Amino acid sequence: MDILNLTKNVEEDMIKWRRDLHRIPELGLDLPKTSAYVQGVLDELGIEYKTLVNGNAIVGLIHGGEEGPVMALRADMDALPIKEETGLEFASDNGKMHACGHDGHTAMLLGAAKVLQENRNLIKGKVKLLFQPGEEYPGGALPMIEEGAMEDPKVDAVMGIHNGHIFPEIPKGMIGIKYGPMMASMDRILLKIKGKGAHGAYPHDSIDPISMSFQIGTALQTLVSRETKPVDPVVLSICRIEGGFNQNIIPGMVEMEGTVRTLNRETRSRIARRIEEVSKGIAQSMRGDAELTYDFKYPPLINDEEFTKFFREVAVKVVGEDKILEMKEPVMGGEDMAYFLEKAPGTFIFLNNPKEIEGAIYPHHNSKFDIDESYFKVGAALFVQTVFDYLK
Ligand code: NI
Repeated sequence: MDILNLTKNVEEDMIKWRRDLHRIPELGLDLPKTSAYVQGVLDELGIEYKTLVNGNAIVGLIHGGEEGPVMALRADMDALPIKEETGLEFASDNGKMHACGHDGHTAMLLGAAKVLQENRNLIKGKVKLLFQPGEEYPGGALPMIEEGAMEDPKVDAVMGIHNGHIFPEIPKGMIGIKYGPMMASMDRILLKIKGKGAHGAYPHDSIDPISMSFQIGTALQTLVSRETKPVDPVVLSICRIEGGFNQNIIPGMVEMEGTVRTLNRETRSRIARRIEEVSKGIAQSMRGDAELTYDFKYPPLINDEEFTKFFREVAVKVVGEDKILEMKEPVMGGEDMAYFLEKAPGTFIFLNNPKEIEGAIYPHHNSKFDIDESYFKVGAALFVQTVFDYLK
């Protein structure tokens, strides 16, 4: 069966859905219009679903003709607080914008759902459709999982697509795949370095948190350069440091805030522990103290090696060998698809379909970002072929 022919039949639908969604961008975990729209389409397609996260997430279920495993397909649906400047006929005018292409993800998943529902008798098992809010912020995958999205029926494998050009090195029209770690964890740290304030001319009366912050800032870099294997990438960036009032007052406290990124779970927990030990140790040795708030945000996104190999064969059938690019390096950006991939083996792929606006390609999260809709049939076909091959 030629899957691309099947998804070509739903191309017009997908473009319409994408444009309708593009006009009504919503943010975070609050997607009432978007969620209602997707539910409306699922109703039309006769696909059963339930909602989670106060109605802002949707879990659809397609029953195959026979019993078998459960394959989940995921799309994120949220937009960004950017005023759109594409000049497109279907541009949004509410001050928000689908500037990361999640409208495309939702449209491709709906297109795949339509084809799968029409051909459900060919499926041995079930297909779960995960429509999630809040990928950009504050994360919608985790609350969905906590509310049971990956259970009942339990998901055996999961797959997701990011379109646009997250990884600009991939030429247009190609599919980027990656074995193992693909995207980094993204955590926030906040350090409160505590001392005692005094007159700048009487430093001996102070417990100086500014001197402590110099030492701590320098020492934290050695967690990367001296304690981490050089081939295990870690980013530790202090991006805000704040304390003090003027030239002759030693303050009582300094705040340091930053981001930590890693590509494996053990490194991540070790770095978190060591940031606290080093900061506290230095502050205490200088008669002060340090308090760390470590916000564990998205975990590293790790593709299952075996499933990714399986997916590669699937993708060769759909797009051909020459359209597949095996990424050598991961990216240090984050993605909350990572949570789903912690619950079930699977893979996340990049579909490179940027579209020019006024002769130039603009990056993700830019007010002139756009995606090429003619590739939706490819994304949908990758979903459909993966399901057919996994549930056969
Ligand atoms: Ni995105």
